[in-house]
Amino acid sequence: MIRSILSNKKQYLDLLLLGDEQESMIDKYLDRGELFGIFSCDGEIKAICVVTDEGNNIIELKNIAVVPQYQRQGLGKMLIDFLIKQYSSKFLIMRVGTGDSPITISFYRQCGFKEVFRVKNFFIDNYDEPIFEAGQQLIDMVYLELIF
Ligand SMILES: CC(C)(COP(=O)(O)OP(=O)(O)OC[C@H]1O[C@@H](n2cnc3c(N)ncnc32)[C@H](O)[C@@H]1OP(=O)(O)O)[C@@H](O)C(=O)NCCC(=O)NCCS
Repeated sequence: MIRSILSNKKQYLDLLLLGDEQESMIDKYLDRGELFGIFSCDGEIKAICVVTDEGNNIIELKNIAVVPQYQRQGLGKMLIDFLIKQYSSKFLIMRVGTGDSPITISFYRQCGFKEVFRVKNFFIDNYDEPIFEAGQQLIDMVYLELIF
């Protein structure tokens, strides 16, 4: 079941840190963002995402994370499909910025996003520690968009 999370958003910090490794970066969007979670029948969280209204008819996916034991079972794509249904009547574009990692880029492409531009050295300039994914250091931020 997908549910909107309106209060005590920080209780899901551990899961949010999977999608964005630095708490100070999460703090920049968590309060103003809309949070949705996929929950099991007994209330256990399985996946989470955060979106923000960026103006100009753009909604930005700031964070998406699936609990490791539930990854690769379609939950990430289920959240994206939910966001499309939720926002496509009010917005024109869903944007996401992510590290240049084959796992996330392939996930977003599979969900219908297309690469639009890159911000060079974003992860070097904005994060305190180097971030590695799939054995590769993240350096540039890659922006992808899905047009509703
Ligand atoms: C990225 C993430 C959200 C994907 O969610 P998921 O529920 O595991 O993905 P899905 O099962 O919905 O996968 C949909 C498609 O994306 C692609 N994909 C997903 N994970 C992949 C992986 N590890 N390697 C390659 N392709 C992958 C596949 O094409 C997959 O379809 P398939 O399983 O039929 O081949 C999840 O792996 C995750 O939480 N990762 C850690 C946090 C993170 O990196 N978040 C993104 C940055 S904000």
